[in-house]
Amino acid sequence: MQNSGFPTQWLYELKQKNDIVSVVGKYIRLEKKGGKYWACCPFHNEKTPSFVVSEDGFFYCFGCKESGDVISFVMKYESCDFGQAIEILAKNAGMEVPKYTGENKIFEKKEKKDRILKLLDLTQKHYQANLYTKNAKPAQDYIKFRKLTKHELDDFKLGYSLGYNELITYLTSQGFTGQEMLDAGVAGVRNGKYYDVMAERLIFPIFNAFDECVGFSARYLGKTDYAKYKNTAETLVFQKGKIVFGINLVKHIKQSQGINNLIVVEGQMDVIAMHKAGFKTTVACMGTALTKDNAMQLKKLSENIVLCFDGDGAGQKATIKSIDILREMGVNLKIVLLPEGKDPDEILNAYGKDYLANLIENALSPTDYLIEIEKKSFNLEKADEKGRFVVACLNHISKLESESAEDVYLEKLRDLTSIPMDILRRDILKLKKGTAKPKTEEKIDKDVLISRENGNIRAIKYILASLIYQKDFVDKRIDYQRLLPKYSEIIKLAYQKTPISSYFDLLDVEKFPLLKDCFNVEFEKFKGNEKGYFEQCLWFLINQEYIKLQKEITEEFKNCQDLDKRRKLMERLAKITKSLKEKNMEEFYAR
Ligand code: UTP
Ligand code: MN
Repeated sequence: MQNSGFPTQWLYELKQKNDIVSVVGKYIRLEKKGGKYWACCPFHNEKTPSFVVSEDGFFYCFGCKESGDVISFVMKYESCDFGQAIEILAKNAGMEVPKYTGENKIFEKKEKKDRILKLLDLTQKHYQANLYTKNAKPAQDYIKFRKLTKHELDDFKLGYSLGYNELITYLTSQGFTGQEMLDAGVAGVRNGKYYDVMAERLIFPIFNAFDECVGFSARYLGKTDYAKYKNTAETLVFQKGKIVFGINLVKHIKQSQGINNLIVVEGQMDVIAMHKAGFKTTVACMGTALTKDNAMQLKKLSENIVLCFDGDGAGQKATIKSIDILREMGVNLKIVLLPEGKDPDEILNAYGKDYLANLIENALSPTDYLIEIEKKSFNLEKADEKGRFVVACLNHISKLESESAEDVYLEKLRDLTSIPMDILRRDILKLKKGTAKPKTEEKIDKDVLISRENGNIRAIKYILASLIYQKDFVDKRIDYQRLLPKYSEIIKLAYQKTPISSYFDLLDVEKFPLLKDCFNVEFEKFKGNEKGYFEQCLWFLINQEYIKLQKEITEEFKNCQDLDKRRKLMERLAKITKSLKEKNMEEFYAR
């Protein structure tokens, strides 16, 4: 991050004015304990807090090891890039974002990205205006056919492409090159001529959580099952796995009134139909199963998620995949099982909103849903199928977190199959034993290795932490760069009295995974003995260095013929042996 393209002084001020505790506190609830602020980590699923924020300007999670400063927190939490995080923080602090300076890659990328976003913004507005021209009759007819009103058209900013060339002409008049249109994903090129890839389609612009248009999905207006929707290809700003259609609108609702249930559907037309029916907190994952990134974004909007995918094979497959991903995120998940072959839009049209509201109200737990699905694929009248049905269900039930939850479903299974409870209980136990992974040899070895290494690493961490925090008990005589050459970059910054929060700018934190722990060393734990512990750590490391030196010199001595040199080596060896005995650290004093 050292080449951010922003003046260092400005960045420093930005961080000063965005106290990390209050910035993070706006997103998640922090609890003060022992001089630090704690919370359940927003970046992984946990029930007891291991996410810590320090007034020194950094955060760290003991569970998932995520860490960084206030800027990286915003980037991670908002799923945004450096530039967007800077804008959020600058706005927060009432600072103006300066013009980028310097010639570096990030700067170029940011410029290119801004240019694409500008192009997409103009394109979106242009398409939207097109929809109300007289040449847009096919689209207007289609809108009537789908029963969309002005409300939905405005909220979702629907548009229309008037043909292969019209947009190209417009964008050219706005000073954009054909290459830029390609880069933004709005144009294709054939025989050296650029054309609108969404020609003559109804346009659904796709916005990110910051209300920026990042791409389009466009519907063919005639009758076809083949590729009725065409989406923008991957670009610098459009990554399919990260798209949550409707997220911008839901985010506004969250800011103004909070969200009870976040409903997830498959298609953008479903989102719009849901909106129209009053289910305003609906988003779509656009015809695919959720990705981890999607799940993270959803969890931030609400802990209560209702999946409402199409009632067909594809919807079922996507639901099952999404259950796994969302469970890992630890949200409260409910699932609507729609009637065969129907999507939410069709349900609303055929049965009305009360019908769907009722389905949502009575949405199934994931396990209930999975049992329902299994029920459909086996004929319980046949003994062998019934057996396989039971195994499949037990498999799902065995994934539950508590035995009491297990029992609830075992009882259901009993009612379905008339197999007695004790047999079902025995079977599920067997199943769990079979799948529980035994500790392998390799794993045990690795554990031992780690504990052997531990002492060393602990000592290094404590010493680096003491240096970083400028502790007055640090033994100033020692040349720490010589003692710990691997960490000389960190030590140099410590010598320069660098403020803690700047380490993240000045160092490649990934290169020093141990650095994160250094920031979190709890000096309070050593209260009264901080200096004593420091000396212990120091001696622990120097002792090892002496032993290494002893070995090296002995080797050299063995191979040395020169009498004079041999005498010198002898003397040195004697000195080191004496130092070892007397715990003298002079050898590592700075010279
Ligand atoms: P569906 O096939 O369920 O379409 O695809 P739909 O939402 O019911 O569309 P309508 O009602 O016929 O207009 C669900 C989603 O999958 C993506 C789109 O995002 C769509 O909304 N999709 C579908 C494509 O990307 N390409 C396609 O050809 C079809
Ligand atoms: Mn549909």
